[in-house]
Amino acid sequence: MNKIVVEAPAKINLTLDIKGKRSDGYHELETVMHQVSLSDKITLEKAKGISLTSNSNLIPTDATNLAWKAAKLILAKFNDKAGVKIYIEKNIPVGAGLAGGSTDAAAVLLGLNRLYNFNLGTGILGDLALELGSDVPFCLFPASTAIARGRGELLTPLSNLKKLHFLLVKPDFQVSTREIFAGFSLEQVVKTPDLDAFIKAWQEYEVCSLNKYMVNVLETVSIKKYPEIRQIKQKLKNRGALSAVMSGSGPTVWGWFNDLDILEDAYNYFSANYQEVFKVSSYVRGE
Ligand code: C5P
Repeated sequence: MNKIVVEAPAKINLTLDIKGKRSDGYHELETVMHQVSLSDKITLEKAKGISLTSNSNLIPTDATNLAWKAAKLILAKFNDKAGVKIYIEKNIPVGAGLAGGSTDAAAVLLGLNRLYNFNLGTGILGDLALELGSDVPFCLFPASTAIARGRGELLTPLSNLKKLHFLLVKPDFQVSTREIFAGFSLEQVVKTPDLDAFIKAWQEYEVCSLNKYMVNVLETVSIKKYPEIRQIKQKLKNRGALSAVMSGSGPTVWGWFNDLDILEDAYNYFSANYQEVFKVSSYVRGE
């Protein structure tokens, strides 16, 4: 095998809580991550050295790209004579809170593991992933929904009872994850997600109570800086979303709908006003 194509799905955070600041400068997270059906497509071809191209001019195509760093890391450790030509078909918006860069990096680790028969297990791949970024371990985790703790690497799978449907609305700007975390203070938080209650509602698929526990404490920082995020949340709710919450550090807001006709109406409304609007569902591999 000389070439492999790997799907790299986006994630949203259904809940996001921060328990405090750690001695390593990162924040102690407790978040439910959920992969959705908006994917980049990564083509990996055996080659000499590392190179990267993309259909998008919004991402770097040099060694600063996280996918390049992933290739460098795994090849340096397990076959320093090998190289790879990476092509990224970019569909996930950049700087959006949807783990676009992290999922590309995870796909490179998974793909090179197969292309070069490294036969690395999830433990080693998870360690390499965390070296690249806090969201990368989840992106290569086999379960498409998981609770992530620690920096994001302590993962507990949650099974999906139902396929959920969302509208993703990304305003026309990007945010810096580092800046949003740096602006976070526990004192500003008025509402935290109740994870135990969320899990119970998730496992029993109690639509009416699930939305109560879908809370992201980073909204306290992002909304203050970018009030448009609050407006999008409100508009999504006005258009029938059961809940509307910012993903990660933002700025993308997801709206959860269980009526596909209402979702379609909301899609028509938002796509007339925003450039990056996506109808997505819970991710199912190979679908
Ligand atoms: O790990 P990653 O490089 O993706 O994180 C980007 C930034 O987000 C970090 O530099 C840090 O400021 C912040 N972060 C954090 N705590 C986490 C994850 C990320 O403070 N658990």
